[in-house]
Amino acid sequence: MHQDVDHILLTEEAIAARVQELGAQITHDYAGKTILMCGILKGAVTFYTDLARAIDGPVQFDFMSCSSYGTSASSSGNVTIRKDMDSDPEGADILIVEDIIDTGVTLSCLMPLLKERGARSVRLATLLSKPARRRVDVPVDYNGFEIPDAFVVGYGLDFAGRYRNLPYIGVLKKEVYSK
Ligand code: IMP
Ligand code: MG
Repeated sequence: MHQDVDHILLTEEAIAARVQELGAQITHDYAGKTILMCGILKGAVTFYTDLARAIDGPVQFDFMSCSSYGTSASSSGNVTIRKDMDSDPEGADILIVEDIIDTGVTLSCLMPLLKERGARSVRLATLLSKPARRRVDVPVDYNGFEIPDAFVVGYGLDFAGRYRNLPYIGVLKKEVYSK
């Protein structure tokens, strides 16, 4: 795995420190409320579990799975829901937890959907954002890191289902995904 990484963009330590900051901010912003954390499978799982433990307040767990990618390194632009939330969104304060906002297509479809279903509030926490690649504007409430336009893996993010268990975030070597 490690030999396919061109360089490390974010170390384990840098990620952990930033996740603690986001958790503290979210704890403060949601004081007195229960957060319904909606993680987007599978890439957000690592961030999700760390962020949940950095929030000092009541949290409920739920997950959705969407697809816009397949195995290629560029977005196809269509979003389908493969697995929906189990909880009733009606009246809930939903915090969507995503690994990365790239083109913005996925979240620009999901956020209005959850609002239509009667959620009291819908906010978005993402570990990473690639502003240079944005095609649709998405309001990001909690952003871990803005990163340059490069394909990254690790800490939950994959290429063709691999590298999710790397503890850091690294830039994948071009020859790996252009094969
Ligand atoms: P968007 O709809 O283009 O914003 O796509 C977001 C999804 O694309 C993320 O949840 C990731 O699954 C995937 N993605 C975008 N950029 C990367 C990357 O650099 N590495 C791994 N997955 C990525
Ligand atoms: Mg994803």
